[in-house]
Amino acid sequence: MTALSATAPGKIILFGEHAVVYGQPAIAVPVSIVQARAVISAIPAAPNGQVRLIAPDIHLDSLIDELPDDHPLVLAILLTAGHLGAQRLPAMQVHLSSSIPLAGGFGSSAATAIAIIRAVSAFLGRPLSNDIVSELAYRVERRQHGNPSGIDNTVVAFEQPVYFVRGQPFETLIAARPFTLVIGDSGVQSSTAAVVADVQRLHQADPESIDRAFTAIGDIVRQARGYIQAGMIDNLGELMNHNQRLLKELTISSPELDLLVEAALANGAMGAKLSGGGRGGNMIALVSPQTASRVERALIAAGAVHTWITTVAPILGPT
Ligand code: MEV
Repeated sequence: MTALSATAPGKIILFGEHAVVYGQPAIAVPVSIVQARAVISAIPAAPNGQVRLIAPDIHLDSLIDELPDDHPLVLAILLTAGHLGAQRLPAMQVHLSSSIPLAGGFGSSAATAIAIIRAVSAFLGRPLSNDIVSELAYRVERRQHGNPSGIDNTVVAFEQPVYFVRGQPFETLIAARPFTLVIGDSGVQSSTAAVVADVQRLHQADPESIDRAFTAIGDIVRQARGYIQAGMIDNLGELMNHNQRLLKELTISSPELDLLVEAALANGAMGAKLSGGGRGGNMIALVSPQTASRVERALIAAGAVHTWITTVAPILGPT
């Protein structure tokens, strides 16, 4: 049998990270400039059930029997097999590669789980719907992250801009006009689970003021949705800056991210903020196509280890 492959994109959160864990809305978009790829091939003459998992990026090359069942990549394979009622998998090799920076706010864990779920289900001859793929990836994320909102697996599985509220069906966000973002990677790895747990401690210590910040972030997200749908892109910049101020208050930013945000703003960006789990990882800046490369250069000079330019394009709706 020939090799079979599946990919999944990275994602960025435009507005609302962390508050979304507490029921506020958030907006996220897929970014296919970075992606995870799972390639599956049969291992001829090996006994059924023998599954070899190779992920050079994390120096992994093992049979899944030798790994713990709750290893996220193993879990993605086992949950898929379980969902399809496959008692015993055919002997196969799962090769995972990814251009998504690890622990960098790009949703790499959701993307790797989703690439694997898609590839394994297709290999078994029963490709799964986006709904099921997203649900299985959420279960992997939950084991890994403790208390994820579900936004990462949703935006990555459906590959559309989403307006997301925890526990509710997501809304496809249709931008009336395209807009351009520069993404800057601080190069600092940061565990989303650890930051989410820290925010939870802050919340327990002072629920009133933390809830006030979350509500203010929710208001920003609702306004942003309206501006994106109306094509009033110029208004998004100030909302990003306001969201960033609130994230800073919540201790979710970092000196490295603050430097990048300031550099972007000083070089023509209309707004800038961290994106994703925070304390490291990436930040985003809203730019015009004319200022994009100037902002990119400024980010590199301020310490970014990598930059990308991405356009959020109008889309026609659910596919
Ligand atoms: C991570 O991409 C977004 C967070 O809000 C966590 C979550 O929603 O699960 C920080």
